[in-house]
Amino acid sequence: MTPEEVAALMRPDFVFGVASAAAQIEGAADEDGRTPSTWDVFAAQPGTISDGSTPAVTTDAYHRFDDDLALMRDVGVDASRFSLSWSRLMPDGRGPVNPKGVAYYDRVIDGLLEAGIRPVVTLFHWDTPASLEERGGWLRRDTAYRFAEFASAAGHAFGDRVADWITLNEPTTVMLDGYALGVHAPGRAKLFGAIRAVRTILLAHGLAVDALRAVPVTGRIGITNVHTPVESASAAREDHDAADLFDFVHNRLFADPVLLGRDAELPRGAQGIDRLGLHILSRLGRDRAVISRPLDFYGLNYYFPTRIAAGADPEGRTPDGATEAMKDVPFRLERFPEHPVTGFDWPIDPCSLGVVIDRMVERYGDRLPRILITEGGASFPDEIAPDGTVDDSARVDYLARHVAIAAARPEVDGYFVWTFVDNWEWAAGFTQRFGMVHLDTETLVRTPKSSYHWFRAVQQARSREAPS
Ligand code: FCB
Repeated sequence: MTPEEVAALMRPDFVFGVASAAAQIEGAADEDGRTPSTWDVFAAQPGTISDGSTPAVTTDAYHRFDDDLALMRDVGVDASRFSLSWSRLMPDGRGPVNPKGVAYYDRVIDGLLEAGIRPVVTLFHWDTPASLEERGGWLRRDTAYRFAEFASAAGHAFGDRVADWITLNEPTTVMLDGYALGVHAPGRAKLFGAIRAVRTILLAHGLAVDALRAVPVTGRIGITNVHTPVESASAAREDHDAADLFDFVHNRLFADPVLLGRDAELPRGAQGIDRLGLHILSRLGRDRAVISRPLDFYGLNYYFPTRIAAGADPEGRTPDGATEAMKDVPFRLERFPEHPVTGFDWPIDPCSLGVVIDRMVERYGDRLPRILITEGGASFPDEIAPDGTVDDSARVDYLARHVAIAAARPEVDGYFVWTFVDNWEWAAGFTQRFGMVHLDTETLVRTPKSSYHWFRAVQQARSREAPS
């Protein structure tokens, strides 16, 4: 597909943006009053990050925001989604706010607005202040109230300028990778015992919506989760039940209470494990109304489809790395031999993005607000050629085909590319490059890749077509 063909599918108001997260780009980990987050603590433990790197510097966006803003402006980014570091803005995990943290985000937001770029703020993109984690983190109900306090402070500081607020990024991943399997911070491997965190996370979302509305902020409010179409590896009943259980845990556990305002309906495959904690979700009680406050949009992250078979995986593979805990899970992830894969070994299947959207529309009907694809992208081992160019045509192809599907859907208002500058990819450290701009991790020099030029070509084609 040419950039013109992709552009032709986008409505004039379709938002074509880029997405990032504080812990992955900011660096300046112990500067200006910031305290450690769970990711600083996790990365300091040997063996947690595949290349042994830490989030101490990452892309150094804290000091180089202006350089990145100039590049964003150059390609005509419509919106920039970034997250606030809770431990920079509220270093103790509770009041008071850190004026230097406020000053940094003021600079980011005002810079974006001056460049005509829509600021989209995620309140929580996985970096819980370490002091809150020590007191129980998302397994402790009090954390939801601390998060509401943080949301309120952020709303008061930036609520007059932020276009869209996202309460949480991918609660599914926090629960699965962080609390059930331990591949991500805080590194707890509680398996189904992690379900307890779901209740607190859901409550935190609802309380944050209330806190932002109470300020009141001028922007729209939503939540982001990651969705994947789940299929059974075979027609066998065990595989079907396992796939349904995974579909429930991955796609419905958070979305059902948030969008339908009703208790989760446990799948058949959950019977045997119910005593491990799922029942607490079928009795949300008085929290239910708070959890299901009406939203202005639903943020959907999509990367790859999932195929599930019953029975544990002796290698303990997860999309984010292998882990001991996964060997105890009664189902496993199967490969997709029919699809090519990214550097992360994630199957590439653009049609599955359409399937995910169809399933959301079918399940949630008129309870589903407008959809924003708040993340999508692919990692590849990009290298700078002797002539200084970086050919990432595989990424261009990935993006063109996924964006085309999103843009053609009337329910979808935008697509945010993960990500602009190669960043620190959580447990994969610097081993996975997702950016449209190459980062030299030694010198921090930024080099545009071919996808960067492609993005600009799409935006230029759109502006040529726009009625003047
Ligand atoms: C998503 C995360 C984001 C990034 C991409 C590749 O699950 O939200 O921070 O790591 O995956």
